[in-house]
Formats: sequence, C-alpha cells, structure tokens
Amino acid sequence: MNIKIVEVGPRDGLQNEPQLISLDLKIKFIEKLAETGVGCIEVGSFVSPKAVPQMADTDTLLMNLKVREKYKDRNISFSALVPNMKGFERVMNLPENSRPHILAVFTASSDTFNKRNINMTVQESLKVIAEVVSSAKKYGFEVRGYISTAFWCPYEKKIDPRRTLNICEKLLESGVDELSVGDTIGRASPKDVKELLELVLRYIHPSKISMHFHNTYGMAIANSFVSYDLGIRTFDSSAGGLGGCPFAPGASGNVSTEDLVFAFENSGIKTGVDFAKVIESTKILPIKPRSALSNIQNIIM
Ligand code: COA
Ligand code: ZN
Repeated sequence: MNIKIVEVGPRDGLQNEPQLISLDLKIKFIEKLAETGVGCIEVGSFVSPKAVPQMADTDTLLMNLKVREKYKDRNISFSALVPNMKGFERVMNLPENSRPHILAVFTASSDTFNKRNINMTVQESLKVIAEVVSSAKKYGFEVRGYISTAFWCPYEKKIDPRRTLNICEKLLESGVDELSVGDTIGRASPKDVKELLELVLRYIHPSKISMHFHNTYGMAIANSFVSYDLGIRTFDSSAGGLGGCPFAPGASGNVSTEDLVFAFENSGIKTGVDFAKVIESTKILPIKPRSALSNIQNIIM
C-alpha cells in the first residue's frame, strides 16, 4: 500500500450532525467501514456529552464493538478522542477487549478556536495533554495528536506556519506518536499546504504526520496531492464527506473517503480501500452523503 486512510466519519463526520444517530446504526456503519480496507477508524469521543451530544454513547458503542477482540487478527486499529483525564478514566473503565488501540488528544494552532472548542488556551491544553499522554503510554496505548486550525482559524484567520510547527513539536515532545494536521475549516489552498509542510518537514519526519483536510472550499483533494508529493502517506477522511466541527462556524465536511481513494487509485497510488464499499457503508445512515462519487449513477471504470 502506498498510503493509509484513517476513516474519521463515525467521529468527525457524525459529531456535527444535528440528528442523533442511534447506537445500532453507528455499530452497523463502523462494522461496514471495517470491511472497506481503511487502516484505522475513529469511532467516537470521550468528551463532555453536553459539548457534543452525538458522542455521548461512545462508551456503550465501544463496549458493543469489542474492537480488541473482534479485530485482533486484522490489520486495522480503532481510535477515540480523549480531551482530558476524565476522558482517559472513561477509557480505563471499559473492559480491556473494548478499549480503542489509539487515543487521540487535541489542541489547535489558534487560542480563540481552542477556547471555544475545549475551553482551554493552547498552552493550558498542552499541559492537560501531557498528563493524558503519559497515562496512556503507561497502559500501552498509541497516541495521536490533532492540531486543529493548523492553517486557518475562523476567528484569527491565517495562522503563521511557525505557530503550527511549534505545537507539532510540543506534542511530539509530550510523547504523541502521530500528528494529525488539520485544516478544520477547509480554507487551506495548495500553496498554504506547501508552505506549512515545507517548513514542518524540515524538522519532523513525514511518517509522523497525517493530513486532515476538510472540503469547505473544494480544495481538499488538491491539498491531499500536494501533501502526497511532499512525502505524506497518511490521510484522514470521512465516508460520504460527512462532518464539520460544531465549534468552527461554516466548516463543512471532511474530504470524502470515496473521492480521495478514487483520486489516488486513478493516479496509480494504492490505498487498499474499496471505494464502492465505502459508498455502501454510508447508505446505512439517514444522512445524504456529500461526496462527488455518491452523486454519480454509473461510475465509469
Ligand atoms: N467526559 C465527560 N464529561 C466530562 C469530561 C469528559 N471527558 N470532561 C469534563 N466533563 C464534564 C464535567 O464532569 C462537568 O460536568 P458537570 O457540569 O455535570 O459537573 C462538565 O463536563 C464541565 O467540566 P469542566 O472540566 O469544567 O470542563 P469545561 O466545561 O471546561 O469543558 C471539555 C472542557 C474539554 C470537557 C469540553 O469543552 C469538551 O468536551 N469539548 C469537546 C469538544 C469537541 O469534542 N470538539 C470536537 C473535536 S475537534
Ligand atoms: Zn476535522
């Protein structure tokens, strides 16, 4: 495989949907996604249920999925967001066979966004993250670190790439294994991506980085290819292009998994993902997919 896809639909995709999706449908959606060939699935968030009601059932969801038992012989891992020690305690309260393999901590390049998202400045959140990461490592979890608004912030506008680099480095120092560099509002252009990655990759190996694009302004696929050309091999995407961030007004969905896979495969880049199965998986949900492929009746091969 040339690249790895991290499917974030069940988390980043669903968290912004006003309509509550039942536990049963979430389980079916995730089980279908696990058959598509994606390398990782982010299934939910151990955040405050008041902040994101759609994610309130993540504990029960994982207890049903039993990911460590059911997928133990499969080349797939599962992750969930953990904002603080309270979230980490929720993970530890799960039976061992139900715990996600990867815990995802998150901060941002913009203080204004971070305050609205998790009620902490970036500095404050890095302290909390350091504690979560050190506890997670003691129990053998892998840790992913999200940097939201890495390029643009809905409040502070364009972000200085040096600021994002600095946060990437701090996350790695605290023990995070993989960074997910996020264009939360989908405003980055290929030029912005090149500018940031050329700086970041001077200090950080590309194998430590996943790119997380949203498609609000229609630039996500172009941005993915620029990243690929610069050496990035892991990409976050969401089946059906669902998603958005409840704390980033105007942000639309993630780059859609099926469109991204189709674009890569048709450019000779192997993803290991079956885009038709991804489209099938979105049919489980009572939400209209927003990908280009889902609107095409007969896909010409
Ligand atoms: N899981 C469940 N409940 C939690 C929690 C967690 N991880 N962390 C805090 N809470 C609860 C507290 O127990 C408290 O409950 P109470 O009001 O019933 O007493 C309440 O949330 C407030 O706790 P506090 O520590 O003061 O947190 P806060 O109000 O400053 O909120 C976060 C901080 C991080 C918990 C909250 O902003 C949040 O969950 N944000 C998530 C945002 C998100 O998921 N964004 C999308 C991903 S980019
Ligand atoms: Zn996102």
